[in-house]
Amino acid sequence: MPFYITTPIYYVNARPHLGHAYTTIVADVVSRFHAMRSEEVFFLTGTDEHGDKVVRAALKEGMTPRAYVDRISRLFRDLWPDLNVRPSQFIRTTDESHMAVVSRVLQRIYDAGDIYFSEYEGLYCFGCERFYTERELVDGRCPDHQTEPETIRESNYFFRMSRYQQWLIDHITAHPDFIRPERYRNEVLAFLREPLGDLCISRPKSRLTWGITLPFDEQYVTYVWFDALLNYVSALGYPDGERFRTFWPAAQHIVAKDILKPHGIYWPCMLKAAGIPVYRHLNVHGYWNVDQGKMSKSIGNVVEPLQMKDTYGLDAFRFFLIREMTFGLDSNFSEAALVQRLNSDLANDLGNLFSRVVSMTHKYFGGLVPEVEPEMGRQYGLGLGPEAQRTIAEYELAMNGFELHKALAAVWEFIGRMNKAVDVSAPWELAKKKTTLKQLEAVMNSLLKGLRLISGLIYPVMPETAARMQKHLGLDPDAPFYVLDDLRLWKPVPAGTRLPKSVMLFPRIETDTPAPGTAPAAAPSPAAPEAKPEIDIDDFRKVDLRVATVLHAERVPKARKLLKLEIDMGERRTLVAGIAEHYTPESLIGRQVIVVANLKPAKLMGVVSQGMLLAAGETAGPVLVLPDKTVTPGTALR
Ligand code: MSP
Repeated sequence: MPFYITTPIYYVNARPHLGHAYTTIVADVVSRFHAMRSEEVFFLTGTDEHGDKVVRAALKEGMTPRAYVDRISRLFRDLWPDLNVRPSQFIRTTDESHMAVVSRVLQRIYDAGDIYFSEYEGLYCFGCERFYTERELVDGRCPDHQTEPETIRESNYFFRMSRYQQWLIDHITAHPDFIRPERYRNEVLAFLREPLGDLCISRPKSRLTWGITLPFDEQYVTYVWFDALLNYVSALGYPDGERFRTFWPAAQHIVAKDILKPHGIYWPCMLKAAGIPVYRHLNVHGYWNVDQGKMSKSIGNVVEPLQMKDTYGLDAFRFFLIREMTFGLDSNFSEAALVQRLNSDLANDLGNLFSRVVSMTHKYFGGLVPEVEPEMGRQYGLGLGPEAQRTIAEYELAMNGFELHKALAAVWEFIGRMNKAVDVSAPWELAKKKTTLKQLEAVMNSLLKGLRLISGLIYPVMPETAARMQKHLGLDPDAPFYVLDDLRLWKPVPAGTRLPKSVMLFPRIETDTPAPGTAPAAAPSPAAPEAKPEIDIDDFRKVDLRVATVLHAERVPKARKLLKLEIDMGERRTLVAGIAEHYTPESLIGRQVIVVANLKPAKLMGVVSQGMLLAAGETAGPVLVLPDKTVTPGTALR
């Protein structure tokens, strides 16, 4: 099956930053995921190089538009390999082949009678390169640029977009996932409830020459959006290229919410008018903000992808972007949040699991993967096999639906299960007796299988780490180890494989700012509550404090603050904790917490809580107290 994925083609009036990197990394991740399913993938990115904006940026630099676009376009093209992003093609709207397709499509729509000439007077924003209606302005200003638009009167060519309004509404209604997630579909349908005007698609050369000349009037150039959107078909060799025939029927676009209207409205109407079938899906994501605000050059908070890569490592950066942002919603970027995820999800959950299992294989079997009889494997395999199938199914569903954060959460849930399986099976105990040797072999074998699966599933997001894990599992990192149908077979690492010495996948990052749980060095905070009366040690001993692992977490319906947790505390228990405003259920699964185990059960919103979580009562919200290292669940605190 073919799969075709595109990013927006980026304007060359600014250097690439975090936002561009995110969209393009997402496209790379889904491309790699579809390669895992042995599909034929075509991944397109590139640069949008015509229009006023670019001319003005070039002038500011004292360069000709041609020299300027060459320079900035190269910055984008050169960035992608550094981020391990591998597009199949990099298109530029100044490519001759693209310009020829734009002319051809314009002529076709013109001949069909859907382009007409008319005089127009309107309010024009130069920043947006488009006319605004009075209603769209905020206090008479452009909502994006906060500048007053200028009144311009000129004759121009118009595309009869209004003719396609009803068709588009019908199409979106008949294909509920044409635009996803749903909030953006609803947004487009809301636009379409108002009458859809026609689209001005030309600019007189008296005002702008840096564009594609209209094939039917050489006094005009093409409006940038009409030019740019066509890149998605020109790159495939429209109209008769083999690639066009193969990939266009499988087309999916990725954009952020800022360019929803051109992609959700103009583009389908253009395709319909040109007699080209419409794309399959438009996948729309939210915006990355920095310090809760917009990223902007003037504020000086623009995040440079290469700098992040150099400081934290490429895979950690890619992981953070994909795990942190709920696809479709805005997210806040901060280095502190990145470090937090790196330390907890990567260094702690994945890194520790990996080095524990590999080093135990060295310790108990001299680094050789043990042979296991199938019956022993079934009996002592820790139940990881069915878990693995469930994980793969969830992962695949989420990846397919562009819920990339969920796909990773599913993998981390599995990692949590594996960590717990290590704690529960306690190989160090099994290694003490001859009678449990067979069991130890089965346990270790199953854990190695789990690591192998994880290395495959993280491949789209962290290709380098995936290959390193493969190598350290004694497997060939160059063989396509990530083929999903293969992973489903839940194969063992072959018995007798010699594992290289254990490796640390992700070193923890120590920060200058106090890590969670480290007390600030300064004097006691003025907000510290008054001390309670002294107690003796026997009073303290009455409190049964235990370490527990969170197995499952979910919100309590209709209770804003409450999460219901299933925990493993040596035994299984249910807790209700008032932390839902500060911790998501997914972020807790697999984590260890401290529990007051002998508190009288209490009923909260109909759920019986058999204990209480320990948290610091910060005014900004509760902060959970967590053990420094993974501990056997049920261990008492002293
Ligand atoms: N040239 C047009 C697109 C034409 S496509 C036929 C354009 N270019 S752009 O350089 O402004 O890129 C916009 C895109 O960059 C967004 O849709 C998004 O993919 C990405 N991002 C830019 N800033 C972003 C954030 N702060 N956050 C997330 N992505 C954002 O529009």
